[in-house]
Amino acid sequence: MLGWKDVSKYDFKVITLFEAIQLEWLFKWRKHEELSVLLNKYPEVSWFIKYKNPKIKGLVEQVEAMHSDLSYSRELEERFICSLEDWIVYVIDPNSYDQHSHNNWDPNELLGIIDFNGKTVIDIGSGTGKQTFIVAPLAESVYSVEPIGNLRTFISDKRDLLGYKNIFVVDGLMTKLPYPDAFADIVMSGHVFGDHFDLEFIEMSRVLKPGGMMILIPGNDDKDNDTHKYLVDKGFEFSVFLEPGDGYKRKYWLTK
Ligand SMILES: C[S@@+](CC[C@H](N)C(=O)[O-])C[C@H]1O[C@@H](n2cnc3c(N)ncnc32)[C@H](O)[C@@H]1O
Repeated sequence: MLGWKDVSKYDFKVITLFEAIQLEWLFKWRKHEELSVLLNKYPEVSWFIKYKNPKIKGLVEQVEAMHSDLSYSRELEERFICSLEDWIVYVIDPNSYDQHSHNNWDPNELLGIIDFNGKTVIDIGSGTGKQTFIVAPLAESVYSVEPIGNLRTFISDKRDLLGYKNIFVVDGLMTKLPYPDAFADIVMSGHVFGDHFDLEFIEMSRVLKPGGMMILIPGNDDKDNDTHKYLVDKGFEFSVFLEPGDGYKRKYWLTK
């Protein structure tokens, strides 16, 4: 549990607020046995998923039809829902993510890495825009790439409220960025990198200008885990900083 918000009272129907890409991730990363039980308990959700994302219709039907030794209980459903706390918060209450203490890290931890003045910046997986709003007063333009529509709306509304004209909010993925080669001076991302090391690194490098900088704050603890080893192997430098309430994390940067 992340402790961002108590989502235990929701039922499986909350899935109908997810984006098509989240539904794909759901079938990739969650136990099919549990999904099978819940799809059979909530046929209307199953119907929704098949129409919302026809790419996974066949898989949904397979999972629905599979034999599961599990049977439905509210406990199983609640555990499943709680395991999706972050995704649920993104679609129902971005503000509680935005207000969480771990987001209160010192902006100078980012601003001290490079001079953002006049730069074209891409912020990938921008969430509620923590990094975007730190660099927007300096950068020429900031492109906030975020796959969840509700979060894009959160950033756009905040941008309009604060009056920034240089923040552009777009749909996209770290492995599929909607920009031409060598587009940005700086590509940065907080708490996203790590699902597909090579695919993500290659795509971010593609949109970065020669001499540009990649900055990653993957959210990893101050330990030499797989993410750390991958980035250091690629030549990234790193240092440690504090995410309040969540401990010491590492930030990484590399000049192309
Ligand atoms: C934990 S939040 C981080 C938000 C913000 N960058 C921060 O550090 O506070 C992760 C964000 O990345 C988005 N995300 C998840 N997978 C992604 C991917 N493959 N490509 C781009 N964004 C992704 C999520 O929708 C979510 O908004």
